[in-house]
Amino acid sequence: MRILVTGAGGQLGATITEVFSSRADVHPFTHATLDIADAAAVTRVVSSERPDVLINCAAYNDVDGAEDGAMDALRGNSFGVLALARAAAASGATLVHYSSDFVFDGTALNPYTEEDPPRPQSVYAVSKLLGEWFAADAPAHYVLRVESLFGGARRRSSIDRIVAAMREGTPSPVFVDRTVSPSYVVDVAEATWMLLTTRAPHGIYHAVNSGATTWHALAQEAARILGLQAELVPVRVADVPMRAKRPQYCALSNARLASAGFVMPRWDDALRRYLDVTM
Ligand SMILES: NC(=O)c1ccc[n+]([C@@H]2O[C@H](COP(=O)([O-])OP(=O)(O)OC[C@H]3O[C@@H](n4cnc5c(N)ncnc54)[C@H](OP(=O)(O)O)[C@@H]3O)[C@@H](O)[C@H]2O)c1
Repeated sequence: MRILVTGAGGQLGATITEVFSSRADVHPFTHATLDIADAAAVTRVVSSERPDVLINCAAYNDVDGAEDGAMDALRGNSFGVLALARAAAASGATLVHYSSDFVFDGTALNPYTEEDPPRPQSVYAVSKLLGEWFAADAPAHYVLRVESLFGGARRRSSIDRIVAAMREGTPSPVFVDRTVSPSYVVDVAEATWMLLTTRAPHGIYHAVNSGATTWHALAQEAARILGLQAELVPVRVADVPMRAKRPQYCALSNARLASAGFVMPRWDDALRRYLDVTM
């Protein structure tokens, strides 16, 4: 299988490139080597590389910055995906794209399923939802929604920041009323591999680790695993001024992925594997 990875310098892109390289013919492109919003460049690269699969890990992820930088968010998260979808459609390649829990409004009481209607609450969220719609322009496409990604080699996730503060002994503010289903990049890579290699039905899948947690409980679990005495400062969403609105309850159900053949490990199991590996 010949695979072209875009956004290969990012948290997920670097992991996908590393995990897939021993199994397939992988061609990674970073932001510097391919801007996905440059439609002509995308067409040129896809025509010359002739991939069977295009995996798009590129994204504009500055959630607050997008409120003032809508054009950048739309370029990276929406029109870049349109360019890739058109190139995939023209070349017969399968497109894999990653989206976000932020497409939901966060008012649910139970984990969101793929059938629940999106209600984006910010510019970033709208740009990601548009990306999902544009990805569907490729006849063969998988859109994997992930959230609170962690596990990249550069350790730049929220979990890495919390763990770094614990290690330094500095107080770490953590939400007690934001519920998430975290996603370990290694497990997301394996879910992607399963969908591609089993030729699972195309469409949207929630590819988060199983279960859900608040950021406070997640930080407590990280401290327990590492045997650290953490100084956690409980904060509530309403008390923290943020430019972009965040969905408050965003547990996602990954049952559709499980019925397609891949049961995502629980979030605390994923956290333990990550912290064991990196710490
Ligand atoms: N991180 C999370 O918690 C989270 C949550 C929900 C969904 N997701 C989604 O999961 C996917 C992977 O996220 P991630 O955490 O791996 O992101 P990341 O670490 O921020 O990586 C994104 C990469 O895309 C590159 N990029 C930005 N604009 C580009 C463009 N126009 N053309 C080509 N490359 C471009 C960035 O390069 P520069 O740094 O040079 O700009 C960066 O290397 C994304 O779709 C993201 O929206 C992430």
